[in-house]
This record gives sequence, structure tokens and C-alpha cells, in this order.
Amino acid sequence: MKLWGGRFTEGVNELVNTFNSSISIDSRMYKEDIEGSLAHVKMLGKQGIIPSQDSEKIVEGLKEILIRINSGTIEIDKDAEDIHSFVESILTYYIGDEGKKLHTGRSRNDQVTLDTKLYLKKYIKIIINEILNLHETLLEKANENINTIMPGYTHMQKAQPITFAHHILAYCEMFKRDIGRLFDAYKRLDEMPLGSGALATSTYPIDREFVASELGFSKITLNSLDSVSDRDYAIETLSALSLIMMHLSRFSEEIILWCTGEFNFIELDDSYSTGSSIMPQKKNPDVAELVRGKTGRVYGDLMTLLTVMKGIPLAYNKDMQEDKEALFDGLDTALLSLQTFNGMIKTMKVKKANMKKSAAGGFTNATDVADYLVKKGMAFRNAHEVVGKIVLYCIDKDIAIDDLSMEEFKNFSPIFEEDIYKAIDLLTCVEERSVIGGPSSSSVKMQIEVLEKFIKENKENLSCLK
Ligand code: ARG
Repeated sequence: MKLWGGRFTEGVNELVNTFNSSISIDSRMYKEDIEGSLAHVKMLGKQGIIPSQDSEKIVEGLKEILIRINSGTIEIDKDAEDIHSFVESILTYYIGDEGKKLHTGRSRNDQVTLDTKLYLKKYIKIIINEILNLHETLLEKANENINTIMPGYTHMQKAQPITFAHHILAYCEMFKRDIGRLFDAYKRLDEMPLGSGALATSTYPIDREFVASELGFSKITLNSLDSVSDRDYAIETLSALSLIMMHLSRFSEEIILWCTGEFNFIELDDSYSTGSSIMPQKKNPDVAELVRGKTGRVYGDLMTLLTVMKGIPLAYNKDMQEDKEALFDGLDTALLSLQTFNGMIKTMKVKKANMKKSAAGGFTNATDVADYLVKKGMAFRNAHEVVGKIVLYCIDKDIAIDDLSMEEFKNFSPIFEEDIYKAIDLLTCVEERSVIGGPSSSSVKMQIEVLEKFIKENKENLSCLK
């Protein structure tokens, strides 16, 4: 049943019906649509806008419909225009003419943004929780690898020794910011738009604060034109999701590299790898590759919505119906990526000895040789020059700096003493970097402590969100 047949003398073209319909996308918001309608109709009864017996009958009807959709005894009609039309028409079908009073003082324009906000509030909490789960997995891996030395890179060239814990904790910082952004988006979307009507509110004595508190919003929106045409919350969420995906994608790229024969730093579990239909030896990191690939898709969702919105005059225009497909796709993709990525990390094997061996090559302790000379009085620029020559010499002989004899060291500078060997041992190089943020075990333990506190606090914050 259409909600707007009165003004029309002819039926709508079949193709236009299909083109116009959003039920295939918005039917997933049926719960939120019914929750919103329940709050609205209670308010209509309380304010005497409709008789309280009608309001009560509608409440009962809506509750019954919710139970029946949940249990599958009511099937959502795929030919309906949208979920709002469907719920209203099925209500009238079930309870009779009183159902026709539900839409008093309301428009689908304020209803659709209310439903989307309600839906998004739940989904943002699920995503935050999933990042916290990933944080816990990463924390576990970090704890197991506080002393696992690996090469740190710049320009994809071995640079200085770090630990695997230090490397993992870098991603934890990114995911901490991601959680902050999601809480922030949540806070801004937590304004209840119903009562804005089509664009200019209504003439009924509605109580918007009541509806807001029934639905767990902390505020109501303040301008009806903005309320029905604002999609910032969807864009903000997609932008936060894009950053999450960007972080997952960078991490995935490293996972892909690390499990190549060339790096051989980790091994992914069989349950998170796939094989090749032709090459029997292959074990491929498809999960990481897919996360990297799906990142493009979430960026696309963000671009879709930014572009849909850029030329829309106030207030509601039908273009905005396009918001949900992009938003839901971004949410589903990010959630599935987070969950799968978490499992992949949880089950991967870290090849500590290979990481250490790799760090021992490539002159990752060259800076420490220079620092040694500086600490014994040489100017840094001169020390840099001396060590540059040492590196050239070692490349020529195909040895590491540690392999030089004392005599060879002395040939480069008389300042070198026996203690040079200890000073450039990889473990010393790491442990000496004990400033806040560094790779030393004490710095890393401190980062771990802060992260533990962060997880605990944010679990609490999450449970406080209404
Ligand atoms: N299905 C629509 C949407 O998703 C609901 C609002 C329709 N409003 C209207 N005036 N046609 O945006």
C-alpha cells in the first residue's frame, strides 16, 4: 500500500516503482523504525494529540509486529516502497483504522533520519567493541614479544633495531585514535530529529524531549531544516571507518610481506590462509589481501556519500535515500574486516629467530656505532663520516660491523675500545632507547600499561553509551 495515493489519478510506472524503492536496503532498520514509532505514538497519546486508547492499541500492534518480524511470521514485503511505508501499512492491516493515526505530526523525512541514527548508534558500539577486541589480541602479541628483536625500516630499507612488541604497539596507537573518532561521531549524532516533520515541524503540541528520552538520545536537534537534511553523521562515521580500514590495510601489507619467503618473519595459520588451484606449494595470505582490497571499497562509500550530498539544497531531497547503501556497506565491510583480521593475528606464528637474524644484517646498529663515538667526545657529523667508511668496508668484505676485529676498529678511529662490541649488540641498541615511546623493554612495558588502561576505560565508556 502506498502512503500517498490521494493526489494521483494514474498509477506509477513499474520501473519508477522499482527505481524509487529502498526497501531492499532499509528493511534492516525495521527494529529501529518500530522503536521510533513506539516512542512517537506514546507521545501522541500522552499529549492528547490522538486518543490514548488509539495510542495504546497502536503500541500493542507495533510490539506484536516486531515480535512477528523477529520470528519470521511476518515477512517484509519486497515490493513495498520503504520500511516506513511497510510498517505503517502492516500495522493498519493488523489493528485496523487506528493504525492510520500513527503518522500524525511526523514525516518520513524526520523518520528516516531518526531510524538511521538509532541504527548507527548500535552499530558504532559494535565496531568500537571489535576494535577493543583487536586491541586485546595485539596486547597479547606485544606481551609475548617484548624481547623479540626485529629490524625497523624507513624507505623499506633496514634502519634500526626495534622489537616486534614496539612495532605492534604502533598499530595500537592508530586503533586508539580510531576509537576516539567513533566515540566522537557518536556524541555528535546523539541528537533526536523527530518532530522536524517534512521540513518545518508541525502545528501539534508535540513533546520532542519525551521522544528523545524514550529513545535514549541525550539532546534534540535544534533546527528542523537541518534535522531532515543532515547526513554529516553518516559521513563522519564513514570517514572514521575509512581511517580504520587504512590502518588495517597498512598492517595487512606488512603481514603480506612478512610471510613471504624473502622476509619469513611470521607464518599465518592454515585456517587463515588459502591455497592455489594450480600451484601445490602455495599458502596465500588472502585475508590480508582482501582487507587491503576492501579498504578501497570503504573509501568508495565515503566518496559516494560526500558526492551525493554536495549539491543538495535544503531541505530533504530524494538523493539522500542513497545514503544508506553506502553507509551500511561501509559498516558491514569494516566489521567483517576487523573480525577476520583479529582472528588472523591471533593465530599467526611469530618467527622470532628469523626476525633477529634479519636485524643483525643490514647495518641496523650503524647509528649506535656513531653514537658510541659521540659519547666518547667526537662530533656527530665526524662520527657519521667514520661509520659511513666502516659500512663501506664491511660491504666490501661482506661482514657485519660486529664482525670487525679490535684492530680494524682502531684503524677507523683510535677512540674505539673493547666496549664497542657490547655497545652495538642489538639488545643494547634496543635497551638503550629507553625514552618514552622507544623500543626498550621498559618503554614498551609502559606503552602496554597505558594500553591496558585505555582498553579498560573504553570498555566502561562503551557500556555507558545509551
Ligand atoms: N525512503 C526514504 C529515504 O530513505 C524515506 C524518506 C522519503 N521521503 C519522501 N518525502 N519521499 O530517504
